[in-house]
Amino acid sequence: MSSPVIELAVIGGTGVYAFPGLRQAQAIEVSTRWGAPSSPIVAGDIEGKRVAFLARHGERHTIAPHRINYRANIDALHALGVRRVVGVNAVGGIRDDMGPRVLAVPDQLIDYTTGRVSSFCDEDGEPVLHAEFGEPYSVTLRRALSEAAARAGVVVVDGGCYGATQGPRLETRAEIARLHRDGCDMVGMTGMPEAALARERGMDYACVAVVANWAAGRGPRPDASISLEEIHAHLAAATGQVPRIVRALLAG
Ligand code: HPA
Repeated sequence: MSSPVIELAVIGGTGVYAFPGLRQAQAIEVSTRWGAPSSPIVAGDIEGKRVAFLARHGERHTIAPHRINYRANIDALHALGVRRVVGVNAVGGIRDDMGPRVLAVPDQLIDYTTGRVSSFCDEDGEPVLHAEFGEPYSVTLRRALSEAAARAGVVVVDGGCYGATQGPRLETRAEIARLHRDGCDMVGMTGMPEAALARERGMDYACVAVVANWAAGRGPRPDASISLEEIHAHLAAATGQVPRIVRALLAG
């Protein structure tokens, strides 16, 4: 019997290492020409639809943002037939309405990462692509996510510009001031090259950004340092909303 079609994949970021309530769950080991993905891919049923889950930093958060094998992650999902991907990414809030625990579905990004392998066209045998990226996220999937959030009663900021930084350190206040001048509304370390690779593979990709902290120098206490405990507490509270959005997306 052929495997059921996987309708959607969720790539979980910091604070999201499993997807609750997957029925008939099965861990699938996939290898790609780029190596192994960050974790086994767990496929299971939600709302009668097959969903795949991948932990971007590994199941025990052992892989730093700049060391993630983004190509293996995207290609492994692609090899399983996945054509729609929702990336869940922790971010720091820059815009005034992007305080801790806010969820956003960005519509633009600026890539500040350096030295990451950011394309499949990096190896012989891969076609040279110049992927269209004016709209870096799938317009259809973004809209479906925002509508699903509304149906689920989860408030999300619709749109915003995601600044992707190299990490793993957090940014200086001057760096965040620059990102703000550039038009970034939130900052994270894992949004790229994931979005670009998904585009190269022809997959619909959208991001649910979860604000973990005010970015350096932003918010009501701009001189305050950012505490990891605070980040984890905000993420623990806010990421719990994401499965509700995904369920509504699949049911809708
Ligand atoms: N900067 C970059 N990435 C992040 C942050 C931040 O402040 N918070 C969570 N991910």
